[in-house]
Amino acid sequence: MIASPTAFILGLVLGASAQPLVDFQVSQPPVVPTGARTCDVQILQHNFDSFGNPAVIQYTPPTACGTPGSWAAVTLNYTGTSNGTQFDRLSAISFHNVEIWRTSTPEPTTAGIIWTACRQDVTKFIPLFAQPGTLILDLDNIVDPNQGLTGEYLITLTATFFASDRAHPAAKTADVIIPLSNLSPTRQNYVSVPPALNVTVDFPRNAVKAFVEIQASGNGNEEFWYFNTANEFLGDLPDGASFPNGPLREVRLLVDGQVAGAVLPWAIFFTGAIDPLVPIVSYPALDLVTYSIDLTPFIPVLTDGKDHIVSIDVISAEDDHAIDQNWFVSGNIQVFVDRSSKPTTGRIISYNAEPFPVTTTTGTAGDNGDVNVTVSGTRSLSVVSEIKAGSGATTLVKWSQNLSFTNTQSFLDDTLIQLVRQRSTGTSRSTHNGATVVSDVFDFPVDVDFVVAVDSTGQNVVAETVIVDHTFSRTLLPNPLVVQSTIHSHQRGNGSLFSVPGGRSGNGTNVNEFSFADVQGHTFTRQVASTNNNITSDRVGGTLAPRTPFKFVPQRPATLVPSAGLRAPGSLRRQTRFGA
Ligand SMILES: *[C@@H]1O[C@H](CO)[C@@H](O)[C@H](O)[C@H]1NC(C)=O
Ligand SMILES: *[C@@H]1O[C@H](CO)[C@@H](O)[C@H](O)[C@H]1NC(C)=O
Ligand SMILES: *[C@@H]1O[C@H](CO)[C@@H](O)[C@H](O)[C@H]1NC(C)=O
Ligand SMILES: *[C@@H]1O[C@H](CO)[C@@H](O)[C@H](O)[C@H]1NC(C)=O
Ligand SMILES: *[C@@H]1O[C@H](CO)[C@@H](O)[C@H](O)[C@H]1NC(C)=O
Ligand SMILES: *[C@@H]1O[C@H](CO)[C@@H](O)[C@H](O)[C@H]1NC(C)=O
Ligand SMILES: *[C@@H]1O[C@H](CO)[C@@H](O)[C@H](O)[C@H]1NC(C)=O
Ligand SMILES: *[C@@H]1O[C@H](CO)[C@@H](O)[C@H](O)[C@H]1NC(C)=O
Repeated sequence: MIASPTAFILGLVLGASAQPLVDFQVSQPPVVPTGARTCDVQILQHNFDSFGNPAVIQYTPPTACGTPGSWAAVTLNYTGTSNGTQFDRLSAISFHNVEIWRTSTPEPTTAGIIWTACRQDVTKFIPLFAQPGTLILDLDNIVDPNQGLTGEYLITLTATFFASDRAHPAAKTADVIIPLSNLSPTRQNYVSVPPALNVTVDFPRNAVKAFVEIQASGNGNEEFWYFNTANEFLGDLPDGASFPNGPLREVRLLVDGQVAGAVLPWAIFFTGAIDPLVPIVSYPALDLVTYSIDLTPFIPVLTDGKDHIVSIDVISAEDDHAIDQNWFVSGNIQVFVDRSSKPTTGRIISYNAEPFPVTTTTGTAGDNGDVNVTVSGTRSLSVVSEIKAGSGATTLVKWSQNLSFTNTQSFLDDTLIQLVRQRSTGTSRSTHNGATVVSDVFDFPVDVDFVVAVDSTGQNVVAETVIVDHTFSRTLLPNPLVVQSTIHSHQRGNGSLFSVPGGRSGNGTNVNEFSFADVQGHTFTRQVASTNNNITSDRVGGTLAPRTPFKFVPQRPATLVPSAGLRAPGSLRRQTRFGA
């Protein structure tokens, strides 16, 4: 396994000018109470220059903005700077063993970079912030000048607490937050799968509602999972042209081995990955997507006083459902209890879910070496339960999901051209006595064209070109603590990396269209484009837009000079020949 989650990504950028580059993600600012009194607390500052050494600090709740836990909101600001040459790195914050934020770093330039990962709203974790406890910020880095890796990451994490008062009521919170993690007191709290994260949960016996949030990202040989080829067609490709086990990935949540919910993950592009979206990072590389499942239908089982195992795993469409190494997974359960301390009872009235999605793999291998493969899958799940609270209330809970996936890959022209066309769509909904409580409607299309040019000997790569079209479209009501919102992010980009006398050069353009709207009327829009590292247009609007408009100083007159290149797994074999 690769030492670091994203360590073999090759998109290092060596800048040549003096000004630090400002990297950013196009997304909405957090919705926070306006006019509330705030208190900023620096949680930690740490220089990450090694592997396996997270920052571990003991947190004490501040009292300057009211009794711990009484806050109207809490946000985090994760700001990083780095100078030199370095890969992008995965980073996560775990608090009381709950992973509350997964992020990643942009790649530095020799002139330095600075970025503030969008101020993250962590209000739903107020029960954790109200108690003293251990906070772990991990960022596995390798600094080794012999490998040309010089960039250290200096990270500053601050929290802003919003005092509650009559005009700014204390935030609604869950009663108990249960971590789905490895519970390590000193190491990162996510778990590498396969095989699976299994957690024996100590569930409150008077629980009446429970909502799972899942964190999951493919790393190592699974970073470009959507490029992986179905095993049936691997033999039609040259050795090393693709990782095995196909492109379908389903993240499953299981209760005692029974599927409780399923996720078709968003294809995250880390900042050093295939797309040329620098300095505008791909969405949302700085606050990775999380997924919601209503666990309430399983409460009659979970509150029976016996041990139960909640698991997260990741499966493929192959016969044995195997995936490569690795996915990092974790999660949390937000639990609401009844006012009575008597155990909740009830029953699962109906359960309709198969262990695995229904999948098909089809393809053609032409005489000219062209290989086209399509992997598709669908999943329908429905669970209906009756929950009887100790205080007497009865709730009829219905949870249902319909998910659909298709991925078509074409390897053309002796695999010099690799095309990916992927569509993931789904609708998940729960109702409690008829009222919608969790709802997730998403559409995640992604198209990537990856083209390699070789010289007349056919042996040496002289240029690589990538064209990306990536859309995140989602209307989400994750749990009763957050209101429903709709996000639409469309990123298009293209760029090339090519040999020039004495080395390599590159270029890239990208166009981003972003909109956010929630049911309370908050809105945010942004259209921003860049050519190479220069912002060429930037329009910001909506109720959440800053009063003083964003002003982006045109940035470096940069030529991207990647030290290694744009990469897709299918081109690994050729990558090693680049510039050889
Ligand atoms: C985040 O913190 C950094 C310093 O750590 C500061 O420069 C920046 O202004 C803060 N950003 C926001 C949006 O609060
Ligand atoms: C990077 O270099 C610049 C210019 O020398 C300096 O101002 C900045 O503090 C450095 N940043 C880091 C993280 O070392
Ligand atoms: C996880 O639990 C399941 C039963 O639910 C078991 O089959 C499996 O072996 C366990 N895996 C690990 C890694 O403990
Ligand atoms: C494979 O897909 C490409 C691109 O979509 C198409 O041009 C070609 O005809 C297909 N080849 C076969 C054998 O289906
Ligand atoms: C899933 O599809 C079934 C059958 O068409 C339908 O009854 C159910 O309401 C759907 N669920 C969601 C969440 O759309
Ligand atoms: C590359 O991006 C530029 C700028 O958005 C666009 O004009 C051009 O059509 C794109 N090229 C391709 C091949 O997509
Ligand atoms: C990048 O440079 C190559 C070679 O000069 C050129 O063909 C291509 O159009 C350029 N692309 C962009 C996005 O500027
Ligand atoms: C950056 O883009 C702006 C706006 O299009 C343009 O005026 C400026 O000349 C560009 N700078 C460089 C160095 O290309």
